[in-house]
Amino acid sequence: MDIKRAIEDSEHYLMNTYGRLPVLLIKGRGTKVWGSDNKEYLDFVGGVATNVLGHCYPKVVVALQKQAQRLIHVSNWYHIEPQLKLAKILVDNSFADKAFFCNSGTEAVEGAIKLARKYATQKNGTSCFGIVTALNSFHGRTMGALSATGQKKLRKGFEPALPGFEHVPFGDPDAIEKAITPETCAVLIEPVQGESGVRIPPPDYLKEVRRICSDKGVLLILDEIQTGMGRTGKLFAYEHSGITPDIMTLAKGLGSGMPIGAILATDKVAAAFSPGDHGSTFGGNPLAMSAGIATMEALLEGGFILDQCRRMGAYLLTRLKEVAAKHSDIAVEARGAGLLAGLELNRECGPVVSSCLDRGLLINCAAGNVIRLMPPLIVQEDEIDSAIGILDEALSRLN
Ligand SMILES: Cc1ncc(COP(=O)(O)O)c(C=O)c1O
Repeated sequence: MDIKRAIEDSEHYLMNTYGRLPVLLIKGRGTKVWGSDNKEYLDFVGGVATNVLGHCYPKVVVALQKQAQRLIHVSNWYHIEPQLKLAKILVDNSFADKAFFCNSGTEAVEGAIKLARKYATQKNGTSCFGIVTALNSFHGRTMGALSATGQKKLRKGFEPALPGFEHVPFGDPDAIEKAITPETCAVLIEPVQGESGVRIPPPDYLKEVRRICSDKGVLLILDEIQTGMGRTGKLFAYEHSGITPDIMTLAKGLGSGMPIGAILATDKVAAAFSPGDHGSTFGGNPLAMSAGIATMEALLEGGFILDQCRRMGAYLLTRLKEVAAKHSDIAVEARGAGLLAGLELNRECGPVVSSCLDRGLLINCAAGNVIRLMPPLIVQEDEIDSAIGILDEALSRLN
């Protein structure tokens, strides 16, 4: 199939939910992908922070092949060995005591909302269902996660939202404290707001939010769907702040591209769920779990990949700051946490994305005016140099 045919068929057969770029990607290896015309691209989108190990990481491919030959799917009415194995790895390497598996980020958030409400209902009574979340947050597209999301424009046309969500400015612990009422069961935040343009809160934000939640007796839910799986240089972003949440949501990088999501929680909180409270036909499916196990094993093996992420993240930010200084007429700020980096512009960044695409670099535009870079954690210095060179050229041609 060529790109012309792909565009025609998309218009004909697919619902119009994505503003797709005119490329048909057919093959990937490491940090590179190739289009149907054989053009090579350096991939700094990485399936939106999902391909943490790059495309077709050999150990993930082998794990999938082996599992596909053995058992692809069985119901959660039976015990599933790869599910138990991945749960143990996650529990052994996080604050959590228990895991629940689903298929996407939004589903993990839905489950986390249900868990928090069930926990508070048992503890305090049924009126305790409120959740404080942040303005400009992104938690997903299903109705509960969309109601939690602090962006009115995404709910337009789909109202009414679920009741009980209060949105307060991100990075301001006092605003959270003021918004908590006796009806609040949880605070739900991202350690770094990825979708709204790589917004990094003040250094003590998570610590303060944790203290407030503990003082007020409400649960802290961290949405690490984008920041987890090593993206910020630690396995989970909460580790930077020395606190732990009560519930955490994961997805994206957990399966290296296989659809997967997870809710992790402490024993105390997880105990609120009993059989029949929550479930998913595909959640914890052997095939997706095998990708999750291979991904976690690679990330944990000697800590080399996390170390690489920290070093390359620092390098990427340095180079991005140079670009920001050179193009100070266009660039507002360069910021980053590990290999989640953003360059805020004083204008729409769509033309820069298109120009980079023409030059062989995939980047993303978040919140309309922030260029977001999310390369695999295995990215090398020379690849960052190439990407920065292309970005620099694209910005130079803007005026
Ligand atoms: C922080 C965060 N939460 C939730 C989601 C939703 O995940 P999914 O698209 O897998 O439903 C995303 C997706 O970008 C995200 O970044």
